[in-house]
Amino acid sequence: MKSIYGNWTEEEVTKYIDDWFDIFSDDITESVLAEREEHIDGTLAQIDGFADGVIKFIPKHMIDDINKGLSILDWGCSLGAGTHLLQQKFPNSKVTGLDISEVSLKIGRKLFPECEFVSEKLNNPYDVIYCSNCLEHFVDPLAMVKEHLKFTNKYYIMLVPFGGKIVNKIADHLSCITLNTFPQKIDGFNCIYQIYMRFPVEAKIWNGFQMLFIYQKIETEGKQ
Ligand SMILES: C[S@@+](CC[C@H](N)C(=O)[O-])C[C@H]1O[C@@H](n2cnc3c(N)ncnc32)[C@H](O)[C@@H]1O
Repeated sequence: MKSIYGNWTEEEVTKYIDDWFDIFSDDITESVLAEREEHIDGTLAQIDGFADGVIKFIPKHMIDDINKGLSILDWGCSLGAGTHLLQQKFPNSKVTGLDISEVSLKIGRKLFPECEFVSEKLNNPYDVIYCSNCLEHFVDPLAMVKEHLKFTNKYYIMLVPFGGKIVNKIADHLSCITLNTFPQKIDGFNCIYQIYMRFPVEAKIWNGFQMLFIYQKIETEGKQ
């Protein structure tokens, strides 16, 4: 079977991401974090900026619904800044961050000890799945969405870079996402919100357009 990462195996992808953050060695102390702050600062600011932007655009009725205390998964959470922000914004909800990179999660656990992080494959249902800036790293983003939707009880929130060139290496994007990538309806879910935006994140971190899509399970529509 062709890898979901094109020419890369999952092990190669995990090693690539782990190596990126592995400068922290095994011992992630406060002083090591402070010393290396500059290195992770950009990543944290970008993840945080994406989550902050998304929260600002989530429709009010959905915010109220989530605030009732829905379970939220931040899939592909990396260092966990988005998991942390979601947990702060939705204190009644339980937010979990998931990633394949144990090194990223180790840093996330150190930076945000109040948050829960897991490295297992997605195998539990969540009311809300948030997936920011991950899908473009797969050769078939729609197939990944379908996999995620199997574990989504109500809302699927995805943020993706819009357009951009395809470069066949993991450091870049394997898919170019356009308005045709995701249909209006996918496996019992309906796209209820779609917005194209330029992010208020510093140009040196992300200087492109992003597309926010929110899908809702059709059988839950009108049940806020
Ligand atoms: C570009 S980062 C996105 C980080 C963050 N969500 C954001 O908003 O910027 C993509 C993340 O997806 C993770 N990832 C890639 N393949 C994965 C998989 N199969 N399961 C879980 N996480 C995965 C990577 O380890 C990486 O942390």
